[in-house]
Amino acid sequence: MRIAVIPGDGIGIDVTAEAMKVVRAAGEVFGRSFDLEILPYGADYYLQTGISLPSGGHAMLRDEFDAIYVGALGDPRIPDMRHARDILLGIRFELDLYVNYRPVRLLDERLCPLKDRGPADVNFVVFRENTEGLYVNIGGRFKAGTDDEVAVQEEINTYKGVHRIIKHAFEYATSKGLTRVCMADKSNAMTHGHALWQRVFWRLAGEYPGIHATHLFIDALAMQMVKNPAQFEVIVTNNMFGDIITDLGAQLQGGLGMAASGNLHPGRTSMFEPVHGSAPKYEGKNVANPMGAIL
Ligand code: IPM
Ligand code: MN
Repeated sequence: MRIAVIPGDGIGIDVTAEAMKVVRAAGEVFGRSFDLEILPYGADYYLQTGISLPSGGHAMLRDEFDAIYVGALGDPRIPDMRHARDILLGIRFELDLYVNYRPVRLLDERLCPLKDRGPADVNFVVFRENTEGLYVNIGGRFKAGTDDEVAVQEEINTYKGVHRIIKHAFEYATSKGLTRVCMADKSNAMTHGHALWQRVFWRLAGEYPGIHATHLFIDALAMQMVKNPAQFEVIVTNNMFGDIITDLGAQLQGGLGMAASGNLHPGRTSMFEPVHGSAPKYEGKNVANPMGAIL
């Protein structure tokens, strides 16, 4: 199995070193050989060459590797995050990795910031739509930098995109013997795009009679995740909301260092990364928690 490894920036480098030790050890234990190809892309490479990912890079990752591992990307010397967007979001979009699978699983009661909650209370997965929503970066600025500035940032919701992530959530629940799927949107305020989420969710829910389908507005979901996380098994939501609530979920597990994610297109080369960022101030200090990276 060939794995492209992009340690990236900051603590991404530290946690990748630990994660790869575990991959190698797992390979030995299970008699599998992993061909780990360390790729140099990240802030230093971008600053030296002006290249975030070489042209054809996404196709190379897709066609020449079985999986992609990313440590973390982000560097204060590149304030517009150009390289991180090209690499991280570029891989998500170009490889069409439409499922962002983010398990929220508490491994030990001592790690949870909530009172009297243990591993049985915090054990659910979030499926974050990963290829559209606000992340398509469609929009523009008119009269930028003036007091008359108008900034437009469009949220794209397609039938195909909404359908495939919600279907994935129901299929996952079914395959794992789970019985609860909760969809979160903001259809009370965003009455165009999120009406589509409503329509698709309730129609698909009808196809899974064994599953108790529920809906929460995203603000209420955030509240319920803190109030009573045990009620959740599978949560499905859009790109931006999924980004936000998985940081909240990470804290329920003991912090960002504990949270893992898979950016998946079932059956295709997919990408795996810890949920945390590059935390430049901790780089090279051997203090970053590699657990999310290992998971
Ligand atoms: C994440 C990160 C990214 C995102 C950033 C770095 C663009 O926060 O993977 O959760 O917003 O998706
Ligand atoms: Mn995030």
